[in-house]
Amino acid sequence: MHQDFLPAGIVVLTGAGISKESGIDTFRDKDGLWNRVNLEEVATIEAWHRDKKKVLDFYNDTRKMLRAAHIAPNAAHKALAHLEQKYDGEVTIVTQNIDPLHEQAGSQNVIHMHGRDGEIRCMHCGTVFASDIDLTPQSVCANCKTVGELRPNIVWFGEMPMHMDEINAALERCGLFMAIGTSGEVYPAAGFVLQARRRSHVYTVELNLEPTDNQPLFQEHVYGPATRIVPPYVERVLKRGWPQ
Ligand code: APR
Repeated sequence: MHQDFLPAGIVVLTGAGISKESGIDTFRDKDGLWNRVNLEEVATIEAWHRDKKKVLDFYNDTRKMLRAAHIAPNAAHKALAHLEQKYDGEVTIVTQNIDPLHEQAGSQNVIHMHGRDGEIRCMHCGTVFASDIDLTPQSVCANCKTVGELRPNIVWFGEMPMHMDEINAALERCGLFMAIGTSGEVYPAAGFVLQARRRSHVYTVELNLEPTDNQPLFQEHVYGPATRIVPPYVERVLKRGWPQ
């Protein structure tokens, strides 16, 4: 089929809010992670240079929390997997989350812009490994054998998010941009809605527990818990599309 006849793509930006009802805390809500933990002590390159053990212990604990038996995809993750399966055009999930819940729900086209749980990277040689083991400042890189340079393959504050070329290309192709469960406080993700809207005929919708500071940038707003609002929204898109 000629590309002009393919339906427009859909980009879905997801944040911590979509996984909240799966049992994973968000970052900036009242019970959020960054209200309990000082992010400058665990999620910056300066923190890593200051105290590797503290940073690595934090991510070792995070990994165990994400692997707890009760953590599973919820109805919102599943609805997005259904959307990808049933929609004739391209559906790209750009997630800021490091959890694997989109993939576990069945989504295939998922971009983890802030990295993902279960991967580590050597700061010396740059090799990325799949790994589930606890890291310590004495851990040795299996490739270059350097000691103490292995870290989680997760984007820290001040670092460049991953896969930006792929994300920019998907934003250039989309006709619908949905933001689900993200506060819109962290760039560049917070700027994707404006980037999408630079092109005419792109429809934008915010689905979140409550309005965010980015609310005025979206054309449509649906507020409530993700498990309640995302499944019917997906059904609507599959049945009727979106305003063109
Ligand atoms: N359903 C829908 N939205 C929810 C729900 C829910 N059940 N619970 C909370 N939310 C919303 C909150 O109202 C908030 O707007 O999810 C949003 C979560 O915002 P943040 O905690 O800021 O999470 P996120 O936007 O993903 O943070 C971005 O910040 O610390 C970094 O790297 C981390 O990827 C993360 C990035």
